[in-house]
Amino acid sequence: MCGIIGYSGISSAAPVLIDGLKKLEYRGYDSFGIATIGDRIEVFKKQGRISTGVAGARTLPGTTGIGHTRWATHGVPDDKNAHPHVDCTGTIAIVHNGIIENYHELRKQLVARGHRFSSDTDTEVIVHLLEEEYHGDLLEAFKCAIPHLHGSYALLAIAEGDERIVAARQNSPLVVGIADQAVYAASDMTPLLQYTQNVVYLQDGDLATLSPGQLLVWNNGVPACRPIEKIEWTVEQVKKGGFAHYMQKEIFEQPEVFSDTIRTLRREEIPSRILREKAVTLVACGTSYHAGMVFKYLAEERCGIPVRIEIASEFKYYPSPTRDLVIGITQSGETADTLAALKQARAYQSPTLAVTNVLGSTITRTADHTLYMGAGPEISVAATKSFIAELAVLLHLVDAISRGELTKSLDGVNRAMEQVLLSSMDRAVDLCSEAAHIFFVGRGPFYPVALEGALKMKEISYIHAEGYAAGEIKHGPFALLSPRTPAVGLCFPGETYPVMVSNLKEMKARGVPLIVLGQEGDLDLEEFADVFIPLPEGDSVQHIFGATVALQLLAYHTAVRLKREIDTPRNLAKSVTVE
Ligand code: AGP
Repeated sequence: MCGIIGYSGISSAAPVLIDGLKKLEYRGYDSFGIATIGDRIEVFKKQGRISTGVAGARTLPGTTGIGHTRWATHGVPDDKNAHPHVDCTGTIAIVHNGIIENYHELRKQLVARGHRFSSDTDTEVIVHLLEEEYHGDLLEAFKCAIPHLHGSYALLAIAEGDERIVAARQNSPLVVGIADQAVYAASDMTPLLQYTQNVVYLQDGDLATLSPGQLLVWNNGVPACRPIEKIEWTVEQVKKGGFAHYMQKEIFEQPEVFSDTIRTLRREEIPSRILREKAVTLVACGTSYHAGMVFKYLAEERCGIPVRIEIASEFKYYPSPTRDLVIGITQSGETADTLAALKQARAYQSPTLAVTNVLGSTITRTADHTLYMGAGPEISVAATKSFIAELAVLLHLVDAISRGELTKSLDGVNRAMEQVLLSSMDRAVDLCSEAAHIFFVGRGPFYPVALEGALKMKEISYIHAEGYAAGEIKHGPFALLSPRTPAVGLCFPGETYPVMVSNLKEMKARGVPLIVLGQEGDLDLEEFADVFIPLPEGDSVQHIFGATVALQLLAYHTAVRLKREIDTPRNLAKSVTVE
């Protein structure tokens, strides 16, 4: 949603904060700002991306400060709504990730007591509450102000004349990095890696103070001990490594990610309780939801267990009463809707399992068990390698429950993806980049792959793309078909191959330009497709992975042709930590 950063050390704070915000920009990028403690509180904030017009910020004085990169929730993206926000006296500054649900009534009360507001944000109420409670000790002010707040927050604040940063966390991630003579705080570990591998994950209800080399934590008014954990991710892993964009780099990392994930999982013990479950419900959002759909098809087919998949944001408010195993799938481990759905499942006393990429993320503390994807840091907003790693975890689970039904298939996935990475997308990109609408169609487990292909296309190229179960196209969308609406069809050997061919030919008869993904050597497909993208011979599991990679490349190259901002598409954020 938003990214926050704090630094307290012996070097100049401003450059550290700016550099950190650049690394957090994928969390939100409509405005940014920093505040430091010089002789007084100094603030620089601005609408737009950090890369544009940051010069004035670098010279702010002081060795302690806080920063923020914003993805607007309350108040339009402009200079005044950018964080940090300051109190009426300009002596306290605050940055916030999350949403204060009762801000409206708090604001009314604060205005009635004479406070002057200079933004439309929910965040600003916090700094005015702190102002009322501040009598020379910012930590004490926090203790009094926090109970008034309802909602989610990761907060960092500074006050004039104090060299500490005060931090608070509730339902929003906040990680602290500890180095020799400095302490860092951030929404995630990405900006910390270049300074330290020693991190502390703050927990809900924690209040903390950060000063050079020292972190003190309290929870419920009493000192709390939080273990220092070592992060294995390296700085190199979060750099572009010669690729034009993080998304491209992350697509090309997928064969390696897949192998690493499978290798690690095969060494791990899956709790026997999970292997014995007779029914499973999955909750997830976006790309993670599509990974869950693939699991549904394969688990029902190979394990014979019924699987229900629910959109997490719906499940929280309209839960199906269940005592099944509930699996929450979330790359970031911080998606508010998925966390809420899993909590709901716990309220039903269902056993819960998290599938996530981020060690120590909130979902790992919400679920009974966790399976890690091990995809490494994913920087591009578009989820690519995390989808492949989610599939790796979920299909490993199918393999374990079915006692080896998928082992052989999974062993051939790597080769399938490697070959697809060499495919040319040029002719398909010619068709897509000229279109205003594109359909993606598939059947069975290729239906979620089509949905995922459409999601990738729309989020990074801004072309309207719809994924459909191929049989559904005739039930309405047919009215939209024309020579100006290309369709991408996923057509692989198997039971549904003949009907899929018919569906594609029906579209072709309406003048639709067809891009068809099929198995190499399929002369029939090659003949009637306008563009045929051949995938290496294999089984359906290997084709699921190969087709996913092909559709990621298609979306990527189309967006490059259209000169889009690949890694930070407009209006999106990497981690959606509000409902
Ligand atoms: C897809 O490219 C998006 N980044 C988005 O749909 C994402 O998958 C969704 O927001 C869920 O994120 P999560 O896996 O971190 O929960």
